[in-house]
Amino acid sequence: MNPTPLITTTEAVDKAFYIIFGISALSLLGITLAMLYLLWRYNRKRQPVPLSQKDHNVWLEVTWTIIPTILVMLMFWYGWEGYLSLRRIPDNAMIVKGSARMWSWLFSYQNGKTSDRLFVPVGQPVKVELIAEDVLHSFYVPAFRVKRDCVPGMPTYAWFVAEKPGSYDLFCAEYCGVGHADMITTVEALPASDFEEWLSVLPAAEDRGPELLKKNGCLGCHSLDGSPMVGPSFAGIGGRQITVVSNGKEISRNSDTAYLERSILDPNSEIVKGYPPAMPAYAGRIAEQDLTEIVAYLASLTETAPTAPPPSAISQPKPERQSVAPPPHLPIQDNPGLELARSNGCLGCHSLDGTPRVGPTFQGLFGSQRRLTREGEEIVLNADHDYLQRAIRNPNAEIVKGYPAAMPPYPGLSDDNLELLIDWLKDLP
Ligand code: CUA
Repeated sequence: MNPTPLITTTEAVDKAFYIIFGISALSLLGITLAMLYLLWRYNRKRQPVPLSQKDHNVWLEVTWTIIPTILVMLMFWYGWEGYLSLRRIPDNAMIVKGSARMWSWLFSYQNGKTSDRLFVPVGQPVKVELIAEDVLHSFYVPAFRVKRDCVPGMPTYAWFVAEKPGSYDLFCAEYCGVGHADMITTVEALPASDFEEWLSVLPAAEDRGPELLKKNGCLGCHSLDGSPMVGPSFAGIGGRQITVVSNGKEISRNSDTAYLERSILDPNSEIVKGYPPAMPAYAGRIAEQDLTEIVAYLASLTETAPTAPPPSAISQPKPERQSVAPPPHLPIQDNPGLELARSNGCLGCHSLDGTPRVGPTFQGLFGSQRRLTREGEEIVLNADHDYLQRAIRNPNAEIVKGYPAAMPPYPGLSDDNLELLIDWLKDLP
């Protein structure tokens, strides 16, 4: 029961647009013609002396006040009505979650399916619930006249209905960094039956698990084959008894789903014995859907389950790894940079003594020549201040050769602290 007929976003915006455009075009024409006529009529050659000395005319002034007021109110009215149509969601809308992050879109459907393109059924309104995971982005589909800024911490939405099957461009319309232009994707409008078919094909959790772990950077520090890295291996992690250290006390825990979820969102409240507190907290950083699927996948890796084969899709160079003890012989002194490196978990993956770990060592880093991969191309550059800033703010845009793209970005690190860290790195031997 939908008493009001559906006005699409395209219709709503186009109506306001053409009315405003029409009024503007007519005004331009009218004003220009009047101007030309007066120019000709009162040219000094034609009219050397003024015909009258009138300095006002009430009716003329009332007219040129009332008519433009009506026109402006008319433009306001259609603009306002169009805006309301964009914000009012039709009752039968299908809900899709849209997540913007550097530098791609991720659309999640209610049955758990995710896609980097926005698939929609033709003829059904779609409400896209938008969030930004890191910086400002903007959801922009010109074909449906919708554009909505995505601000971190401010969930919002947009809706539209695709009336014809086809592929429509979807852009990020807010400059969000070097990969901004890569955020182009499409809305794929399919006939309802094709859409249902597409939606019903879910990749099995077992297949998606390793991919999600890789996507979230977990495999930089945790292996799937039982070998210890910076963190404990995932092999056999489902439901085993483990000893954790919390506030200096040893506790035995069963790694059930609740434990697994906690140890991803707030890893440093309980540390698995023998490992450093090196993992960044993923609360607010991992997509809810990813978390659910990762926990389910990890819980399925029981000791009796066949060992997960290292997925072929994941090829990582393996730098020499040591069984990891806390970083050795850290100079104990009042050093805010060192303190930051420690509290942000940098030292879990970067050594101070030249040993390669998950990431390259910090020793002699500043001013050294780095061989990097940027957008698939190999480059060599000098590790100067700007490079270090980029490497911390946006670690996966340039990857040091021989290392995996495993480092999470640190959106919580303030600019001041970033400078402190870089100053500290500069002074390292
Ligand atoms: Cu995201 Cu531009």
